[in-house]
Amino acid sequence: MLEVRHLSKTFGGLKAVSDVSLDVPEGSIVGLLGPNGAGKTTCFTIIAGFTKADTGHVHFAGQDITGFSPHHICRLGMIRTFQIVQPFVGLTVQENIAVGAYLHHPQRREAMAVARDVGKRLGLGGMLDRPASALTIAGRKRLELARALATGARLLLLDEVMAGLIPSEINEIVAIIRQIQSEGHTILLIEHVMQAVMSLVETAYVLNQGRLIAHGTPQQLVADPEVIEAYLGHGAAARLQEGHHA
Ligand SMILES: Nc1ncnc2c1ncn2[C@@H]1O[C@H](COP(=O)(O)OP(=O)(O)O)[C@@H](O)[C@H]1O
Ligand SMILES: [Mg+2]
Repeated sequence: MLEVRHLSKTFGGLKAVSDVSLDVPEGSIVGLLGPNGAGKTTCFTIIAGFTKADTGHVHFAGQDITGFSPHHICRLGMIRTFQIVQPFVGLTVQENIAVGAYLHHPQRREAMAVARDVGKRLGLGGMLDRPASALTIAGRKRLELARALATGARLLLLDEVMAGLIPSEINEIVAIIRQIQSEGHTILLIEHVMQAVMSLVETAYVLNQGRLIAHGTPQQLVADPEVIEAYLGHGAAARLQEGHHA
């Protein structure tokens, strides 16, 4: 469904992304891993049209979307979430979700109906009329997922949606992501929480200093010396092997 070929991006002198190619088959959950600064978010930024790559191509659902605007890409059915979730604090939870729904439902009534439906599916049913500022961090993560789903996207690029959550909240988001997949969505997931990666993804790519260093099942990756090495400086090797989250 998503095919990325030879993406590169330099910021000043820094090669943030270097010749990255990856595939996300329809219906799958694929991981994008790597230490901080590896270039993961930059890949999302390029794939979703927020930045132009220096080189490379992005194909989505059989179409070359390289250089398309984020809005255009969103209309085609791909949406990214942001690492830092910033809801509109003056709006209710339902109105915040509706922001995504307006893309295909310009009428407020319809957008709000879609928002209510998606909000309930994501466990926000009891919070719909509350201000978004009343949400906990876990609630904000659900809101971010709900807003993405409300756009009607088939491919979701999720950037660290579990960061900052406690284990019980992580388990809830893992269950929600499985549910989203079972409803027919495809997911590319940037995630540091290994417990979640291990249980969710079929295969994952590992980036280090902008380059892809490995691709395989989570079980293969945690046994890959180059992957362990890439994480060592951050003390993640032990966590990887124990399956604990950061
Ligand atoms: N807009 C930008 N301008 C300059 N440097 C950037 C910009 N965005 C990211 N970088 C740099 O590119 C590298 C990769 O960043 P990023 O893609 O955010 O990594 P990750 O998401 O894997 O932690 C980092 O060194 C970061 O500082
Ligand atoms: Mg990032």
